Amino acid sequence: MRVGFIGLGLMGYNMACRLSEVGFKLIVYNRTRSKVTKFVDECGGEAVNSPMEVGETSDVVHIMVADNEAVGSVLLKPKGLLSSGKKFRIVVQSTITPQFSLVMKSSVEASGRSYAEAPVLGSVSESREGKLLTYVAGDKEDAELPSIKALSKKIYYVGEVPKASAIKLAINNVFLTSLAGLTESVALALGWGVSKENILSYLRDTWLKTLVERYEGRGFNGEFPTRFPMRLAAKDLSYVSSALSKVRLPAALASSAADLFSQAANSGFSNNDYSNILLFFKELVASRKV
Ligand SMILES: NC(=O)c1ccc[n+]([C@@H]2O[C@H](COP(=O)([O-])OP(=O)(O)OC[C@H]3O[C@@H](n4cnc5c(N)ncnc54)[C@H](OP(=O)(O)O)[C@@H]3O)[C@@H](O)[C@H]2O)c1
Repeated sequence: MRVGFIGLGLMGYNMACRLSEVGFKLIVYNRTRSKVTKFVDECGGEAVNSPMEVGETSDVVHIMVADNEAVGSVLLKPKGLLSSGKKFRIVVQSTITPQFSLVMKSSVEASGRSYAEAPVLGSVSESREGKLLTYVAGDKEDAELPSIKALSKKIYYVGEVPKASAIKLAINNVFLTSLAGLTESVALALGWGVSKENILSYLRDTWLKTLVERYEGRGFNGEFPTRFPMRLAAKDLSYVSSALSKVRLPAALASSAADLFSQAANSGFSNNDYSNILLFFKELVASRKV
């Protein structure tokens, strides 16, 4: 089976490299050419110059680009995947909104091809080791695709599109709003003169231990290697908010948390790990003019 892979960012690079390492014949494309060159040197595969060319020789094409706009662009723009004359399966692994996924499904199916969602939980190292949790929506056989199996520790077939996108956003919303809550609480304590060490230790002695232990090291470390960039955390929360609004549900929590992460992203933390929201607030507290 020839596998096309579009998007060699933090996740896509490692996922595609995993596929190459376990023996798939890969055709790769990335908007910024330098990443493709590095990829072919390090992991192998065949580089092409457009999404359309990926489609020319692939049986299945994985898309792992940043967001709705990027997915729309690789599918629909001139020299996009759908300009190819060939038939292949399309698997969108990016985190996108359910409503946008439905629009993409219609365009893909109108072109005579099949569309599946397979968003993932896990990050860079899980991608490289094939240990992602993968939520598949589409045809049941999509959950059996060898390339999805090679990337996943566990695969959940969740039914029709766009349920996988909804599930992925629902899970990220809990992670990210929990971190936003922790951040605001630490800021409150710091703002009233409680030391960082003390507030973290008080929290660690409650059932919040796991949350504190997950973030206390990396969150205040500006040098922590980025696994999930701040800008994408802000994007996911804004997608949660719009997905809730689309089904006429309140989205106050997600939209407030989206504001917090956007504020950090727009203040020089865009490519920092999302956990650095804690560092951003710590610096905000320190910079107050009292
Ligand atoms: N990082 C994580 O831990 C993680 C975990 C689970 C899911 N995700 C999701 O996985 C997806 C990819 O995340 P990532 O961390 O790999 O992001 P990333 O490092 O920012 O990479 C983004 C990729 O999208 C491409 N791209 C962006 N805009 C584009 C456009 N308009 N047209 C074509 N290509 C475009 C980029 O190309 P260039 O190289 O040219 O910029 C790059 O290949 C996102 O949806 C993210 O939410 C991430």
